[in-house]
Amino acid sequence: MKKQNNILQDTFGRQHTYLRISLTELCNLRCTYCMPAEGIQLSPRSHIMTYDEVYTIAKTFVDHGVTKIRLTGGEPLVRRDADVILKKLATLPVELSITSNAVIIDRFIDVLKECNIKNINVSLDSLDAEKFMEITRRNDFEKVYKNIMLLIDEGFNVKLNAVLINGFNDNEIIDFIELTNELPVSVRFIEFMPFDGNKWDKAKMVSYAQVMEYVNANYNDGKVIRLQDAPNDTSKNYKIEGYKGSFAIISSVTNPFCDSCNRIRLTANGRLKNCLFSSSESDLLTPLREGKSIEPMIQKTIQAKFKVRGGMDTMKKLEQPDLHGNNRSMIAIGG
Ligand code: GTP
Ligand code: 5AD
Ligand code: SF4
Repeated sequence: MKKQNNILQDTFGRQHTYLRISLTELCNLRCTYCMPAEGIQLSPRSHIMTYDEVYTIAKTFVDHGVTKIRLTGGEPLVRRDADVILKKLATLPVELSITSNAVIIDRFIDVLKECNIKNINVSLDSLDAEKFMEITRRNDFEKVYKNIMLLIDEGFNVKLNAVLINGFNDNEIIDFIELTNELPVSVRFIEFMPFDGNKWDKAKMVSYAQVMEYVNANYNDGKVIRLQDAPNDTSKNYKIEGYKGSFAIISSVTNPFCDSCNRIRLTANGRLKNCLFSSSESDLLTPLREGKSIEPMIQKTIQAKFKVRGGMDTMKKLEQPDLHGNNRSMIAIGG
């Protein structure tokens, strides 16, 4: 039952109804934009939430009004008890979804169905096997592509996430959009974002405006249709007339969508982050293990949320590497 006190509303009136839970800091890929080449300092195993702790914390959020939970990682499915966690979370009255690289998702089709998971977001940055290997440092393109087809055949709603990097995969924008001619998927082009250790440089980013330049140069006037975005959407959605699928741009860098933010993040070691870009984290796991209430810490963390991108409200601030030093690599945040 929803509790009365509104601990998930921040000082700007934003209601937090979407919890993203990172299940693990481990991944079976090594995407260059997501983790530093030398890897990251992993949390000691005993500091990672058990499946019971994930459930207890998630339930507290649901009791306070969370209606959507997305599981992330690292790669959430490499966690040995991923199926147990999925099944436990599926007992909560929420829309449960997952973001995966799809390398091993074929082993989970039955569990995903049993858990009533309908929406699956898959990271795929290139349609070229060699480039896929270059960016992920693993030779798994065929497996991933086959699994995407499997997910579609099995009736899941699939979104493909492509992080665009200038001079690397921006020449594939139209190929990705052409995929949506025959496939009922949503391809989302993501502006490359700065995180600790990912060697971000504004010049590497392909902006929303640049994507639309490619699109408008390739399709005739009137063929490109702007779709209605869902409330709290991170993406600006479009489709090509007559195509089965759609495409979108996630423009966190050039057009932040923080006004309608309803997201809160829980890291695999039980820390709460009030923003993807926030450099501070609140430990929920220690009070939980000490048998204390975690609600005061949740409320405090929500109250401390900045209006825009963890305080980096201008492009100038976003470009300052020292402002990212206290934030973690994406692999440990989960996107
Ligand atoms: P839907 O639930 O389908 O809307 O997916 P989603 O966009 O919430 O999640 P997904 O895990 O597929 O993430 C896609 C991209 O959006 C990633 O690059 C994320 O880092 C980015 N993203 C997700 N949440 C936020 C957010 O709160 N702020 C910003 N700036 N980017 C976000
Ligand atoms: N910028 C933008 N998106 C990123 N992702 C990982 N790192 C970055 C980054 N630096 C995306 C992944 C995944 C999603 C959860 O976050 O591609 O699909
Ligand atoms: Fe792994 Fe996803 Fe990060 Fe790539 S983006 S290293 S698949 S967590």
